[in-house]
Amino acid sequence: MQEILNYIEQNKQRFLDELFSFLKIPSISSADQNKPDMENAAQWLSNNIKQCGIDDVRIIPTEGHSIVFGQWLGAGSDKPTILIYGHYDVQPVDPLELWESPPFEPIIRNNKIFARGSSDDKGQVFVHLKALESFMKHRGKLPVNVKILIEGEEEANVSHLDDFIINNKELLANDTVIISDTEWFADGIPSLCYGLRGIAYVEITVIGPNRDVHSGSFGGAIDNPLFILCRMISQLKDCYGRVTIPGFYDDVLELTEEEKQNFQKLPFNETAYCSDLGINGVNGEYGYTTLERVWARPALDINGIIGGYTGEGLKTILPTKASAKISVRLVPHQKPDDIVKNLEDYLKKLAPPTVKIEVQGYPGGNPVLVPMDSKGVRACSKAMKEAFGSEPVFMREGGSIPIADTFMTVLNSPSVFMGLGLPGDNIHSPNENYDLNNFFGGIKASAMFFEEMGR
Ligand code: BES
Ligand code: MN
Ligand code: MN
Repeated sequence: MQEILNYIEQNKQRFLDELFSFLKIPSISSADQNKPDMENAAQWLSNNIKQCGIDDVRIIPTEGHSIVFGQWLGAGSDKPTILIYGHYDVQPVDPLELWESPPFEPIIRNNKIFARGSSDDKGQVFVHLKALESFMKHRGKLPVNVKILIEGEEEANVSHLDDFIINNKELLANDTVIISDTEWFADGIPSLCYGLRGIAYVEITVIGPNRDVHSGSFGGAIDNPLFILCRMISQLKDCYGRVTIPGFYDDVLELTEEEKQNFQKLPFNETAYCSDLGINGVNGEYGYTTLERVWARPALDINGIIGGYTGEGLKTILPTKASAKISVRLVPHQKPDDIVKNLEDYLKKLAPPTVKIEVQGYPGGNPVLVPMDSKGVRACSKAMKEAFGSEPVFMREGGSIPIADTFMTVLNSPSVFMGLGLPGDNIHSPNENYDLNNFFGGIKASAMFFEEMGR
């Protein structure tokens, strides 16, 4: 194994150069104008995987963005098959003016790589490819059978990958999925994630008069859609921070005492948490701690409100319509479709008869909880300890990786979340960055994980 670690050590600069060229491709999945960049990124990945010594690599077109698939099954049937999952698409970059350096011109400052996608998820998924390369170039083989599945639609949450998995069960069959797309609890605290929240998403539109009207001539006489929308939204939570949708908590899996105690043991510093955010205090569902609220309790939020006059100065109108984008983070065993249905029914009940409302549901994603005592988790834990010097703490996450549930239910494969990001990585924000220690340490951890799985 030392030979492999030496190879990694000797090739650090080239690994970094390669990651830089990957990061330069603006693979924003949600923007039509970046469609060619998406294809370039898939092509780049496919070439890079081949250069790692893996010959069977395919770019699989979908109705959306292509899936990159690769496999090396030379370890024999007595060795497990590990599927590496990640995504090559990235979030949009706006607001661009808040970036200290251009998002697609990677640069190192303070031992971190600054670029969109550096942490979420190009930098993290690339770690595994370089671990594979190290085995192939040095030993000519891998300790386990490996399949690689890197998609381009994760950030846009469109469901072509789900269909692909359902239609290609044999091709994708594996014993364990490894995913590096989560964060450590804190810098210096390697962490192993075992649960993520799911998501449901709707857009509600309240429709009033057939045109914007003068607020002097009509104000006070008819309902204002923007006002009604705000009133309806404000009724979605009570004063204890609980969501008021009927049946909302019916399927919620309560935390065990043991899990609560494990959360308590983590060094969460509320003062630092608040000062980092520039807020005076936390607030959420009554009776739960911050970590419990984010990791194990559902949350309903408004992501944006559209409507009325928002230009400079004043304009006196009642808008013809107003809409809001509402997300709900889900925990086991809430189901996105049920939540959307119940939310839609409830919103229709809350709306007065003077307005019309439309509710559009978006594709959602299931929450996931994986076993904490599998072979994969033990191997990951050992690998992280060796690479980073301390055993990882167990944590959950508030974000979502819905495909992990598909792997579990369709392929019967548990995921191991070898998160290699840090809370300060600014994912989805300006100045996204990725710590070099996590990048290089991650390559070693990945190599040790594969070695351990092959034992
Ligand atoms: N890598 C994130 C998920 C994540 C976020 C894990 C924060 C740990 C901490 C992933 O790329 C992501 O952004 N997921 C989306 C999914 C959504 C679009 C369905 C999310 O959570 O908003
Ligand atoms: Mn991600
Ligand atoms: Mn993301």
